[in-house]
Amino acid sequence: MKTYKASVVGCGMIFNSAHLPDIRDLQGRIGIAAVCDERADAAEFTAKKLGVPWFTDPEEMLEAVDSDILINCTPNAYHKPLTVLGLQSGRHVICEKPVALSAADLRGILDAADKAGKKFFPAQTGRFTNASMTLKKWIEDGLLGKVYLVDLDVIRRRGVPTWGQFHIKDKNLAGAFADMCVHNIDALTEYLGNPKLLSVRARTYSPISKLNEDVQVSTKESGAFGDGVFLPRTDFDLRDMSVEEYAAGMIFFENDLTVSFRCAWALNLPEKSETRVAGTLGGAVLPQTELYRTFGGYQSVITPKVFDNTSNRVSDWGHWVMYEKIMDNLDGRAPYPVTREQMLTTAKVLAGVYLSAELDQEIRAEEL
Ligand SMILES: NC(=O)c1ccc[n+]([C@@H]2O[C@H](COP(=O)([O-])OP(=O)(O)OC[C@H]3O[C@@H](n4cnc5c(N)ncnc54)[C@H](O)[C@@H]3O)[C@@H](O)[C@H]2O)c1
Repeated sequence: MKTYKASVVGCGMIFNSAHLPDIRDLQGRIGIAAVCDERADAAEFTAKKLGVPWFTDPEEMLEAVDSDILINCTPNAYHKPLTVLGLQSGRHVICEKPVALSAADLRGILDAADKAGKKFFPAQTGRFTNASMTLKKWIEDGLLGKVYLVDLDVIRRRGVPTWGQFHIKDKNLAGAFADMCVHNIDALTEYLGNPKLLSVRARTYSPISKLNEDVQVSTKESGAFGDGVFLPRTDFDLRDMSVEEYAAGMIFFENDLTVSFRCAWALNLPEKSETRVAGTLGGAVLPQTELYRTFGGYQSVITPKVFDNTSNRVSDWGHWVMYEKIMDNLDGRAPYPVTREQMLTTAKVLAGVYLSAELDQEIRAEEL
């Protein structure tokens, strides 16, 4: 097995709390050659943990240090430009989610990969959790029958991320839906066999952020890994909020599949994170992996013993499995499970949600 050398751009929360421990766990399959962050303190902090050189300019790093892979953990607005830069420099690229908020941007990335003869790996880590992989198996085993309903509740009460630039449109491109539900949409392309998108109807809101209320919040509720590894920015100001805090809508797919969603960084309701999937023979509720079936003449709720035998250290984060699959792919052992067709469906759903909200009307897939 080859040991791959990776350069990193974006030394913030997700690199330090998820990617880095994982890379250390992969026992020599991948190592870090250099890191870069526009914030010198973040680059230096991460480089010191690894004993590698650090940079503040990605191009300079890619020129100066030899590596096989670029890991892109920057805010969403830099996903496409820095991924294309990495591909053009002759590296494979692993890029955090959401990789693109439009079909055109995704195609730009895939074209750059093809031109360079390099691979592009989106970090759609939500599909690599044990719960998501269990649901996929249940559907493949026919336990749900024909699925026609997916209902998503991803709700934080006061969880606008405060450590990065998530709330600023120029940096993050969009808010709660693109940040969180991108995982659920990607996962359903996997467990439902990439259903064909027909149309999207959505609305977005931000009334609570505008109140700029004086209320205690927690970085944990906002989605930061709770062990304090990340480097907080000191300049967070809710008055800079220029993306949505809440999105709700319906997504229609071929074969009578309807997906409804409510997704919030801030909402005056209890926190909740639940995926409900229903078919002709049964239903499933995640992350608790409950199975709703009739059994012996009774309406039954079955809670199978679902052991987490993945290498994910934290059960609701899938970075560990993702890296194993990337390394297996680079070693020529197996395809990477996130296909280009699935990436395109996810990008179109994201584009559709925001266009529908902007125009306040249903958007057909052909328009995306
Ligand atoms: N897969 C997941 O479950 C998951 C979880 C959290 C975050 N993410 C994604 O990871 C990305 C980063 O999130 P984070 O929480 O680590 O944010 P963060 O703000 O903590 O880290 C981003 C870092 O990128 C740096 N940066 C910004 N622009 C740059 C540029 N042009 N060149 C070099 N460095 C630059 C920032 O200074 C910052 O240190 C986001 O796209 C987010 O959506 C994914």
